[in-house]
Amino acid sequence: MSILKIARAGHPVLKRVAEPVADPTSPAIRHLIADMIETLVDIDGAGLAAPQVHVSRRVVIFRVPEERAKREDREAAEPQPLTVLINPVIEPMSTEMAEGLEACLSLPGLAGRVPRYTHIRYRGLDHEGRAIEREARGFHARVVQHECDHLDGILYPMRMADMSTLAFTTELGRDEVEES
Ligand code: NI
Repeated sequence: MSILKIARAGHPVLKRVAEPVADPTSPAIRHLIADMIETLVDIDGAGLAAPQVHVSRRVVIFRVPEERAKREDREAAEPQPLTVLINPVIEPMSTEMAEGLEACLSLPGLAGRVPRYTHIRYRGLDHEGRAIEREARGFHARVVQHECDHLDGILYPMRMADMSTLAFTTELGRDEVEES
């Protein structure tokens, strides 16, 4: 396993629509997932998409740490273990959206307020090729939307409604913004 280099905004791989994975259990995908997990743990992030490590495939990983879940409303306060999601599909469960601060490993040091659906359902395959289907709210829903956007060449500033909220986290005086 190895810790992978993160692509930063401006790299073409972040602008591409990533290719679906034909066989989630192939050696190449297993290897990719193992390296993505090692990389995410090393940088202590909340999520990572394969294009962020220069691989244009529809694979994301994410987690909702207990500390982050605690800051959510009661119905969204469940922590989520590290989850591998291959070929994900997101379906909004309502039209309600909320703004929240996001940061991205591909835009280091920055954060901005991004509107996201507050309640979604997502489907995909895990690392063994088994179906995953979950509902998510709050930060859990936010991180999944952020990661899946990476698969379609979208970075969070492209979703921002008010660009004046884009800031360096050091200027915001908060370094607890989870990067993903
Ligand atoms: Ni990101």
